[in-house]
Amino acid sequence: MTTILGIETSCDETAAAVVLEGSTIASNIVASQIDLHARYGGVFPEVASRAHIEAIGVVVETAMKEAGISYEQLDAIAVTRGPGLVGSLLVGVNYAKGLALALDKPLLGINHLEGHIYSLWLTEPQREVHFPVLVLIVSGGHTELVLMRGHGAYERLGSTLDDAAGEAFDKVGRLLGLPFPGGPHIEQAAQNGNAAAYEFPRARLEGDYDFSFSGLKTAVMREATVMPSAAARRREPGAEKTAQLRSDVSVADLAASFQRAVVTALAEKTAKAARDYEVTEILLAGGVSANQELRRTMRALCDLPVRYPPLALCTDNAAMIAAAGHYRFMAGLRDDLAIDVKPMWPLTATTYQD
Ligand code: KG4
Ligand code: ZN
Repeated sequence: MTTILGIETSCDETAAAVVLEGSTIASNIVASQIDLHARYGGVFPEVASRAHIEAIGVVVETAMKEAGISYEQLDAIAVTRGPGLVGSLLVGVNYAKGLALALDKPLLGINHLEGHIYSLWLTEPQREVHFPVLVLIVSGGHTELVLMRGHGAYERLGSTLDDAAGEAFDKVGRLLGLPFPGGPHIEQAAQNGNAAAYEFPRARLEGDYDFSFSGLKTAVMREATVMPSAAARRREPGAEKTAQLRSDVSVADLAASFQRAVVTALAEKTAKAARDYEVTEILLAGGVSANQELRRTMRALCDLPVRYPPLALCTDNAAMIAAAGHYRFMAGLRDDLAIDVKPMWPLTATTYQD
């Protein structure tokens, strides 16, 4: 049985977890910086890396203590190597390297997106999966439709051409005066709204499986805010960013209509890819997969089993990094202590060969 310590610091959560056999969570500690970043309405990179430095030692110690194992019992240390904020990634990777060196244990550099995928394997007992499966990763930084043919074998079918789905939720949330991060607050506001109140335009895209959300965000802005005049925008480029919310709009209706538009685009393309590639099931992962409307719509539009992680494992955590580490470890992969972070690291075909 493998015992793997996972470390995740790619964005605004400092996280560590111990996972057994790629599926059983022995401990899962997440120190969120949300309160710290809410003041700025988004993640502030400098603030994030400093907060990671302050938290990492305690978070790892706590994960080990809660798991009730000693460092000697670890088989490997898995750490998020990218994609993400460079300063944040460096904190986790350097800490993991230090541990690997001191303990003489293997180091595994994990792609954060691969981690999100493996949040679906954190089940007890471990679930049997028949490949190929289709994975929709929807988070604050990514919107990727991925065909998974086996462990470590990925083919990217499509992705967003502009904003990520979670980013769109966050930007529209800010526009509507909701707290950061926008996703859960929009979902909550939408519960009292009419999703048919606004008909937002659909992006027409060449790629069958690509997404685009920036036009939708602009459409919400047009409906919801008093735009500065064209002359004012010419005088002061970027003036639209400070557009004021109109007093006569219903935030609930806008939230519901916006959410419906995002969710429909995600579900329709996923359903098409599932038919085209004859997959056995559909997996949802990433922060936006916590959205109940997305889960419902996916189930309604797809004739296959649709699976998603438990709510706590949708957003960033280190258990998913340790789970991904298990499969790399079992494939005999080991990383050199000289590895660097990869702030831009697409999940390409056969990530195991990177
Ligand atoms: O996976 P994650 O924790 O971080 C990244 O890797 O980006 O995802 C965070 C994103 C945020 O954009 C947040 O607004 C969104 O996930 N999110 C949601 C919900 N919960 C979190 N979006 C829609 N509905 C939700 N319930
Ligand atoms: Zn993430």
